[in-house]
Amino acid sequence: ARSIDLAVIPGDGIGPEVVAEGLKVLSAALPPDVKLATTEYDLGARRWHATGETLPDAELDQLRGHDAILLGAVGDPGVPSGVLERGLLLKLRFAFDHYVNLRPSRLFPNTATPLAGRPDIDFVVVREGTEGPYVGNGGSMRTGTPAEVATEVSLNTAYGVERVVRDAFERAAARPAKKLTLVHKNNVLVHAGHLWSRTVERVGAEYPGVATDYLHVDAATIFLVTQPERFDVIVTDNLFGDILTDLAAAVTGGIGLAASGNINPTGAFPSMFEPVHGSAPDIAGTGKADPTATVLSAALLLRHLGHEAAAEKIEDAVTADLAERDGAPRTTSAIGDALASRVAV
Ligand code: NAD
Ligand code: IPM
Ligand code: MN
Repeated sequence: ARSIDLAVIPGDGIGPEVVAEGLKVLSAALPPDVKLATTEYDLGARRWHATGETLPDAELDQLRGHDAILLGAVGDPGVPSGVLERGLLLKLRFAFDHYVNLRPSRLFPNTATPLAGRPDIDFVVVREGTEGPYVGNGGSMRTGTPAEVATEVSLNTAYGVERVVRDAFERAAARPAKKLTLVHKNNVLVHAGHLWSRTVERVGAEYPGVATDYLHVDAATIFLVTQPERFDVIVTDNLFGDILTDLAAAVTGGIGLAASGNINPTGAFPSMFEPVHGSAPDIAGTGKADPTATVLSAALLLRHLGHEAAAEKIEDAVTADLAERDGAPRTTSAIGDALASRVAV
């Protein structure tokens, strides 16, 4: 499309700081004939304190009308844990059926990582985004007493598992290494785990060119650090994918670099792009937040909307910028400015 109608949710903590830089670089990377319109949504801790609202239905409806959503982060130490995470972020992922949570990892140059010098690290985690233990299927009885019982039941449907597994196979088939690794814990979580394993086996029969592999999630954390080259496409459930992608970020360059897309592949709803990291209250307001993860999420957004050249420009700018980083600290806006001027040429 020659125009982009973008919803922007800066959110909490470092969210607004990194989103400002993400937008700066995104608009600098666009060809001059592509018109960008942005609408900012005031959602997050400030709004909740002021009105008690997390995500009113009227705003959910407005958000539905945009081409895509760029989100910073939500969550604040002054708001009970879970209120914004569930009431805003997960509400969006569920309402817009973001069943593919796409989290790519490549080894970034010139970063402090135990994996430095191993250039063949290039994998993508396809994390299920609408089911698993995230659905809120649970409860607490006799809360706060010594007899308390709390449950958090993981939901896994044949429909939900199959569609994300199929998406992961499609991605694997399109990549040079053509390998798909299922990560689960089917030695303990036998009900959900066997559904996932059977689904990979059945769908995999339709993709004879893709090699499949299985790892228990605990062993997967070993190999992410000791043999990351073995991974190409990882498909996994919502919670395992959450944990694995923070680890993947840490070992490939840092959490400040890890991008993600919450994708509805059918196009029925807008997809949402956000850094893997959170609102980082420990560094909010200090100018220390690295906006690169948000900038790279903006590149995923542009690719999703068909602006491949602009997406590549951003990714190349990040690689070049990292190669020149000398370890001296740079502010959030200094990194954004450097990336914006690289993509503008
Ligand atoms: P976090 O990702 O916010 O922070 C973990 C550590 O990484 C902190 O030391 C932080 O300073 C550092 N960090 C994160 N982003 C960085 C960046 N861009 N540059 C440099 N350093 C960075 O995780 P947390 O501390 O577990 O969570 C803080 C809040 O964020 C919580 O309320 C949590 O629920 C929320 N959260 C939101 C999202 C989201 O909106 N998608 C994701 C994760 C956590
Ligand atoms: C992430 C975050 C979220 C998740 C939280 C804040 C709901 O950790 O995007 O990785 O667990 O998915
Ligand atoms: Mn996470």
